[in-house]
Amino acid sequence: PHGYPGELVSVLIDQETVQAKVRELAAAVAADHTLDTPPLLVCVLKGAVMFTTDFARAMPIPSEMDFMAISSYGSATTSSGVVRILKDLNSDITDRRVVIVEDIIDSGLTLSWLLKNLQSRGPAAIDVVTLLRKPEAVKVPLEPRYVGFDIPTEFVVGYGLDYAERYRDLPFVGLLGAHMYA
Ligand code: PRP
Ligand code: MN
Ligand code: MG
Repeated sequence: PHGYPGELVSVLIDQETVQAKVRELAAAVAADHTLDTPPLLVCVLKGAVMFTTDFARAMPIPSEMDFMAISSYGSATTSSGVVRILKDLNSDITDRRVVIVEDIIDSGLTLSWLLKNLQSRGPAAIDVVTLLRKPEAVKVPLEPRYVGFDIPTEFVVGYGLDYAERYRDLPFVGLLGAHMYA
């Protein structure tokens, strides 16, 4: 039904399970904010695009949205170690309550770089919500406040996550067959 050959991608987390978790995370984040100070959701492009838009719509309180495009992977399947800003935020986050919205924390490199970068701009607070987290990320001293799913160390695609820019459009989180990128 998703238009990709079925043998290449298997379902790890189906669409309904993803959407239920998005609603749960949105409710949890909303419960920690007051109505008078809408949080600024910082969508980390491109991977977090699907999660952010679903998340904002699932939040029972108002929020604002801004976008930052950074890339550490390029078209590789492992992190290059170099984070590049492809597009910075439009808004000034000084004294703002910021919620970084990420699709996945893998090595933790992207998020630790981003936290340091945004922290230097003087926000009132920064929280992190990530849909997915891999075991490696548990070892680094990052404390994402809201985590959707802890997943195994396998290459995942879909719901915003890509392999060489493909598969972002899948509505579920899938596993890419190892022969695809070995
Ligand atoms: C991916 C993913 C996270 C990051 C996680 O982004 O969307 O942002 O890697 O990996 P890490 O914890 O090992 O740093 P990528 O650099 O592929 O850019 P993209 O979001 O545009 O696909
Ligand atoms: Mn990303
Ligand atoms: Mg990517």
